[in-house]
Amino acid sequence: METLNVALDERAYPIRIGRGLLDQCELILPYLRQKKVAIVSNTTVAPLYLGKLSASLRDAGIDVIEIVLPDGEKYKDWQTLNLIFDTLLERHCERSTTLIALGGGVVGDMTGFAAACYQRGMPFIQVPTTLLSQVDSSVGGKTAINHPRGKNMIGAFYQPKLVLADTDTLNTLPDRELRAGLAEVIKYGLIRDLPFLEWIELNLERVLAREPDALAYAIHRSCQNKAEVVVADEHENGERALLNLGHTFGHAIETGMGYGEWLHGEAIAVGSMMAAELSCQLGWIDRAAVDRVEKLFVRAGLPVVGPLLVVERYVELMQHDKKVQDGKLRLILFRQIGQAVVSDAASASQIAHAISVRSPHV
Ligand code: NAD
Ligand code: GLY
Repeated sequence: METLNVALDERAYPIRIGRGLLDQCELILPYLRQKKVAIVSNTTVAPLYLGKLSASLRDAGIDVIEIVLPDGEKYKDWQTLNLIFDTLLERHCERSTTLIALGGGVVGDMTGFAAACYQRGMPFIQVPTTLLSQVDSSVGGKTAINHPRGKNMIGAFYQPKLVLADTDTLNTLPDRELRAGLAEVIKYGLIRDLPFLEWIELNLERVLAREPDALAYAIHRSCQNKAEVVVADEHENGERALLNLGHTFGHAIETGMGYGEWLHGEAIAVGSMMAAELSCQLGWIDRAAVDRVEKLFVRAGLPVVGPLLVVERYVELMQHDKKVQDGKLRLILFRQIGQAVVSDAASASQIAHAISVRSPHV
């Protein structure tokens, strides 16, 4: 097991990464404030891993409440969030009961938001089970639900007490989900870690084949990047926005197509290509750099062209982006590969052009 620290002073917490961690409830026990936890999972992950986690906690004398939500991005909403509150109240959970998220980014984001709100804040622990959630969403304290008009529009910054990433859980992850998670791994290389990007270019097939060493390195290095950015800018007043590479375009795809149609990582891959096209139009990177990004996403089995969504709809949805300031859109663009910036340099027509060159031509 390897441990990284998210050094946020009084809100600091460890990220533990390794195999077989779900069986080791002694890793969780020191973080509990009372002998009662509520584990939130979903109908796909619960049959695979909830029994194991619950049993190991119960064996240690912990009262375990299980909350199983429907599975899917389309359920990342108020109605489903309320199911968590219903059970917490029915089962007399207190402010010192710990909420544990067992699942991917959807379960993690919703559970974190529930923890931030219930009795104005209860402790919570992230047990991520997808590649995407192990490398990104479980770390950093962004919690949210979607609104029909915009992705992750309702939420809070609320840090977990512990992140426990059991890499064995990735053995059951469908290939499409593994590839979607890779989009966020590649993101770290593209925005701030060129040596890591070069490592991914060399080792991609090993990661896709789920070779334990390669996966462990990719997760560890990603979490290192994420933790560094979060510690530097917890509430996204500056550098943290870089983690949103491709997200303004990508969130428009997810919302515009209907939540769950496009996986988050797939939408982010296309959004990153649109950002690369725009950076090229601005003369910041050359065509060879755009091709390099495209080649990597293609090798990872990720889309590089978006869905049939008209440019006007993208533009409308992008106005809800959380980086909009005084009505002006700010995007994450490339100064060079391995170095991203937040910029409002692109004109409306340049943005429209970048979207259209990465849209299907019918
Ligand atoms: P997800 O949570 O929907 O999980 C993907 C699918 O895999 C689901 O069907 C899930 O049930 C299933 N699954 C999970 N673990 C499994 C396992 N071990 N074996 C088999 N199946 C498994 O999707 P995701 O990609 O994990 O997360 C995407 C979400 O994360 C989006 O809502 C996105 O907005 C959010 N996100 C948040 C942050 C953040 O900083 N908070 C960052 C990136 C993404
Ligand atoms: N995934 C973006 C962030 O955590 O800031």
